[in-house]
Amino acid sequence: MRHFRQRAISSATIFAFGLFSITTVQAAAPQPVEAEHGMVVTAQHLATDVGVDVLKNDGNAVDAAVAVGYALAVVYPTAGNIGGGGFMTIRLKDGKTAFLDFRERAPLASSKTMYLDAKGNVVKGASTDGYLAVGVPGSVMGFETAREKYGTKSRQELMAPAIRYAKEGFALNQADAAELNEGKKWLARDPAAAAIFVKADGKPFETGDTLTQPQLGAALSRISEQGPDGFYKGATADAIVNASRDKGGILAKEDFEQYKVRELDPVTCNYRGYEIISSPPPSSGGVIICEILNVLEGYPLSYTGYGSAATVHLMAEAMRHAYVDRNSALGDPDFVNNPISKLLDKDYAKKIRDSIDPYRAGVSKNLKPNGLGESTETTHYSIIDNDGNAVAVTYTLNGSFGAGVVAPGTGILLNNEMDDFTSKPGVPNLYGLVQGEANAIQPKKTPLSSMSPTIVAKDGKPFMVIGSPGGARIITITLESIVNVIDFGMDIQQAIDAPRIHHQWLPDKVYTEPYTLSPDTIKLLTGMGYNVEVGGDWPVWGQAAGILVGGKSLGDIAKGGGARYNGAMDSRAGSGLAEGY
Ligand code: DON
Repeated sequence: MRHFRQRAISSATIFAFGLFSITTVQAAAPQPVEAEHGMVVTAQHLATDVGVDVLKNDGNAVDAAVAVGYALAVVYPTAGNIGGGGFMTIRLKDGKTAFLDFRERAPLASSKTMYLDAKGNVVKGASTDGYLAVGVPGSVMGFETAREKYGTKSRQELMAPAIRYAKEGFALNQADAAELNEGKKWLARDPAAAAIFVKADGKPFETGDTLTQPQLGAALSRISEQGPDGFYKGATADAIVNASRDKGGILAKEDFEQYKVRELDPVTCNYRGYEIISSPPPSSGGVIICEILNVLEGYPLSYTGYGSAATVHLMAEAMRHAYVDRNSALGDPDFVNNPISKLLDKDYAKKIRDSIDPYRAGVSKNLKPNGLGESTETTHYSIIDNDGNAVAVTYTLNGSFGAGVVAPGTGILLNNEMDDFTSKPGVPNLYGLVQGEANAIQPKKTPLSSMSPTIVAKDGKPFMVIGSPGGARIITITLESIVNVIDFGMDIQQAIDAPRIHHQWLPDKVYTEPYTLSPDTIKLLTGMGYNVEVGGDWPVWGQAAGILVGGKSLGDIAKGGGARYNGAMDSRAGSGLAEGY
């Protein structure tokens, strides 16, 4: 079954119905997509098709994840990539879990003060624009490691659809064209990027136009033939290193030769009997989701209800406390000692609950360090196969189209992930993130991430696969999708589509998506001392991709269940698709 919507429809729906009440928006959510044998949910419909084909041809969920990862690098250039990095959370049918960290590493020539001028001030744009912003990419090594260790299919088979879409081109739909048009100004500054992603006549892309990327096709073919050496050695690495050297970057051949994937233990915690399996440092995601859930577990959320002032208060306070820890305590585990067991201790959660005034908002400046922000493009996909192997992948170039540069001849967009580091303690990065020493730049270090590919299990079986883009909000988007299912009884599509709230310690505000809260609720929260800010368009609120196993909601499961797999792509995603078989 296919399930495909344009972004314009979702905003219109929210606009039309949101004024009346939030439950109207939930009720308006489409039905989740049902399937019995496998499910793939991604932010681009062609990539979803690629994943479903792999599953139908007896590939497992990891095979499908690898094929989707390469396909998105072609058909979803704003975030899909081989020039960036990400995380993969795996839960196999026998209950074993794994986590692959293939995020970018800081180049060997990087330094703590590399984005500061002689006076010690941050140079605007240095960590986001062009080659100096680029971290050593990890996606290719990540996908190959996943395939070799957990997959069953040949690299050539899994990469073939991506290579075909790159060489032969694919037809843009409305959302694909809009993404490219939004990125035009950014991409036009780099001749090699402009030659691919900006029309020669300067006119906007239109629905039905074909995007062909022969150089990217050739780069993918080199990987298909030679494995990671086809990217980290030879023509591709040379072209990137040369372009970097010519254009103010610091990438060296050794950076590429030394790149390694890390296999780490996922972070796990138990929330109301559900096992949460999520991303460990260098992501903050799993730790902070678990810390917030541990705090919320002590409150009767299903009684206080979705969208009430009482619930928003409790969630905002849990988020406020957890984000202080995120911004001050966490970093790359090879460089800093992450206090994970302390942050995940249920007694620590109780201490946080004890400090929350039931009737008043907390005050962020009275809590210890730091702040936060948001970014613009990343992508998450969720997959489950007929055996029950589940895979959650979030990967990114960081900003939309990354650093906006393509090394001539490669067709590969490069990330601007270096901006996720602390350029200077106390100074916000492009998206408002104010972080500390734990996340300072060091050669070979990985910047702290919020990406949270998450799998939830219940009674030893997979229950939910979930994640989202959304910069610093990835954590709360993923968390709210889980809580909406477990505490508020929503089906998986409703849980993902429901308007969201977010608190990130500083600025001391509760952010809400338009039409999340009624005017009366906002008045109640203001009376408690909250500064409520309503707003923000879809990118900052993410594009979650989820699967629920055994029924579309807890109610459905309790009644004896519905379909085995229930997929939902966020209605905020213009080109996304949940599809099963
Ligand atoms: O790793 C991180 O946390 C960021 N680089 C993610 C950026 C992102 O989600 C942008 N998309 N909306």
